[in-house]
Amino acid sequence: MKILLLGANGMLGRALKTTFVNEELTAWDIGDLDITEAGEVAKRIDAIKPQVVINAAAYTDVDGAEKEREKAWAVNADGVRNVAEAAKEVGATMVHYSTDYVFPGDNERGYTEDDQAGPPVNAYGESKLAGEQALAKAGPAYYLIRTAWLYGAGGKNFVDTMLRLAETKKELSVVNDQYGSPSYTVDVAQATRELLTGDWQPGVYHAVNQGLTTWYALALTIFELAGVEMEVRAINTADYPLPAARPRYSVLNNTRGPQLRTWEEALADYVRRA
Ligand SMILES: NC(=O)c1ccc[n+]([C@@H]2O[C@H](COP(=O)([O-])OP(=O)(O)OC[C@H]3O[C@@H](n4cnc5c(N)ncnc54)[C@H](OP(=O)(O)O)[C@@H]3O)[C@@H](O)[C@H]2O)c1
Repeated sequence: MKILLLGANGMLGRALKTTFVNEELTAWDIGDLDITEAGEVAKRIDAIKPQVVINAAAYTDVDGAEKEREKAWAVNADGVRNVAEAAKEVGATMVHYSTDYVFPGDNERGYTEDDQAGPPVNAYGESKLAGEQALAKAGPAYYLIRTAWLYGAGGKNFVDTMLRLAETKKELSVVNDQYGSPSYTVDVAQATRELLTGDWQPGVYHAVNQGLTTWYALALTIFELAGVEMEVRAINTADYPLPAARPRYSVLNNTRGPQLRTWEEALADYVRRA
């Protein structure tokens, strides 16, 4: 398979690079191609003529997006449109990643692939939803893969933050009223591979590790797995104000795609390696 991977140095990008290492892979990050530059994107994708374009490039600073709306929009909406139009032009299938944050998070049962996305509760979610719409409008064959609460090697994530804090702190307060499915980049990359190589039709997929938890319960599990003594206090979202609002029930139901292992199994694997 001739694959062009964008955002290859990001957290998910790194896992994808490893997963597709034996394919005919071109792996670029912003230093190689800035996806906000429409002309360059069209020219460079046309020069390579990949069969598959995997877009893991994104603006992912959830709180930063409240102040840098235009920047978030340029990458997450316009950038996606640029890549999708170029992919369509060369007949490539596109893989693109989105987030639980395209949903408002007010449904305790979570959201399936067929639920209508929106309205998001923050600017990052709005920019990602605009990206989903731009992808559909540009119209290449595509796999839109939503994931959530991502962690893995080489990126800013909650698991690494907890382990780093444990080096200097004996007690922490962690939010216990937001629910989601922590998901390991290695597993999301593997699910991507299965979608591309198995008998899976293009469409919308939810690739999250199975089960759900809160940030508080996740922190407890991380410290237990790492064998770290830590006093963890459960607090509410209102006690920990951040610039961007968070959805309360960030739960993505995977009703049609490859099933990932449970979040506890994946986390144990990651913490063992970290
Ligand atoms: N992280 C999560 O918890 C989470 C949850 C749900 C969904 N997702 C989605 O999963 C995907 C991957 O996320 P991630 O956490 O791996 O993100 P990440 O670590 O922030 O990686 C994104 C990569 O894209 C690059 N990039 C930024 N702007 C670019 C541009 N204009 N042109 C080309 N490359 C650009 C970044 O470079 P710089 O670092 O130099 O900016 C970075 O290497 C994204 O679509 C994200 O929305 C993430």
